[in-house]
Amino acid sequence: MDAFVFKGHICDSIDRNHLRILEHHYLVCEDGRCKGVFPTLPAAYAAVPVEDFGDRLIIPGLIDLHLHAPQFSFRGLGMDMELLDWLNTHTFPEESKYRDLAYADLAYSQLTAHLIRSETTRACLFATVHVPATELLMEKLEQSGLITYVGKVNMNRNGPMYLIEPSTVEAVRQTRKWLSDTVGRFSRTKPIITPRFIPSCTDDLLYRLADLRAEFGVPVQSHLSENLGEIAWVKELVPTAKNYGDAYRKFGLLGGDYPCIMAHCVHSDALEMEYLKENGVFVAHSPESNMNIASGVAPVNRFLDYGIKVGLATDVAGGSHESMFKAMTHAIQASKLRWRLLDQSVAPLTFDTAFYLATRGGGAFFGKVGAFEEGFEMDALVLDDSTLDHPQPLSVRERLERFIYLGDERNLYAKVVGGRRLF
Ligand code: GUN
Ligand code: FE
Repeated sequence: MDAFVFKGHICDSIDRNHLRILEHHYLVCEDGRCKGVFPTLPAAYAAVPVEDFGDRLIIPGLIDLHLHAPQFSFRGLGMDMELLDWLNTHTFPEESKYRDLAYADLAYSQLTAHLIRSETTRACLFATVHVPATELLMEKLEQSGLITYVGKVNMNRNGPMYLIEPSTVEAVRQTRKWLSDTVGRFSRTKPIITPRFIPSCTDDLLYRLADLRAEFGVPVQSHLSENLGEIAWVKELVPTAKNYGDAYRKFGLLGGDYPCIMAHCVHSDALEMEYLKENGVFVAHSPESNMNIASGVAPVNRFLDYGIKVGLATDVAGGSHESMFKAMTHAIQASKLRWRLLDQSVAPLTFDTAFYLATRGGGAFFGKVGAFEEGFEMDALVLDDSTLDHPQPLSVRERLERFIYLGDERNLYAKVVGGRRLF
């Protein structure tokens, strides 16, 4: 039996409206899974080593449901553009460099080093169209100890010739090779089918990707209803679809009997929300990206009220930073502006809801992940707020709230992913 016990202030999410805070409690992990949180250590675990973190806080790991690995290199650049210009000016030229494995090695080493130190324990990443660089990224992530899904990107139209796949046949051949190489190869790193978005993929490629998805039994991720220019373009490209989500649905790429993530959904209408709900699609809410590239603000509480699954994401490099603490802060701030300036019918996000999105919300994509309930996989962060000075006494809840706004990876004291200690 492989077991350990952490002692400290245990904080997790019960549901979207409630945090649970248990001071000076014991958190028990056995064989990678949580056995529960206890005020005194049960006799059954008397022989298990206890690490006492004193006055520190212990929270579940944070889940980044959507980011672009090759874009980490140019984070913070081009933040004065809208989506389609930003793709053409910054994204496509940079992504083409990952044809060169030496460049990919350097860039992906930097990304992986940052993710190890970060509050992210699990993530769903886009790579590029290139199979060797995508497999290299998967090897590095496997080594890192993080638990991830990684997608070789598909794009065979409306991009520069130096980047896009030359034909549907070649795109399918490369995707099949990548899936054959990586399905079942790693314990912590899995492939996910990744059409970039509808404008990047011809109809026949999208149908073939749905076939490959079924053949290999893997999930799907893409972008949906992010930016007004993009949405207008999709209307022209797929005139028979009732909306953008319906286009994915027609091609067999909007979930249903398999897991699916759609990033953004800033402008999803009532019918698209119905499709998201009935197909169990996870919305990857990416508030910083949606501000930076002028997409808007998704109505997160409306989605949650309606029964749509929602997680939180950085969307690096639409988002400038890999920090999920920042993503939580941005989610709350953006929701308040949306409420104040646009639509009082959707309440702004509370701290409790932002915490839920970053833990249980996105964690559900990975199974029983995102809380310290018995049977949940053990992802944990130990937070040390001793440098975040305050003269007055604060409750543990108050300390947690301000940690999310003020803390960063330098305030992380320990990190556990799937039962394995990373530091
Ligand atoms: N839509 C298609 N590609 C991208 C991308 O790389 N980033 C974002 N934010 N949206 C996209
Ligand atoms: Fe994205």
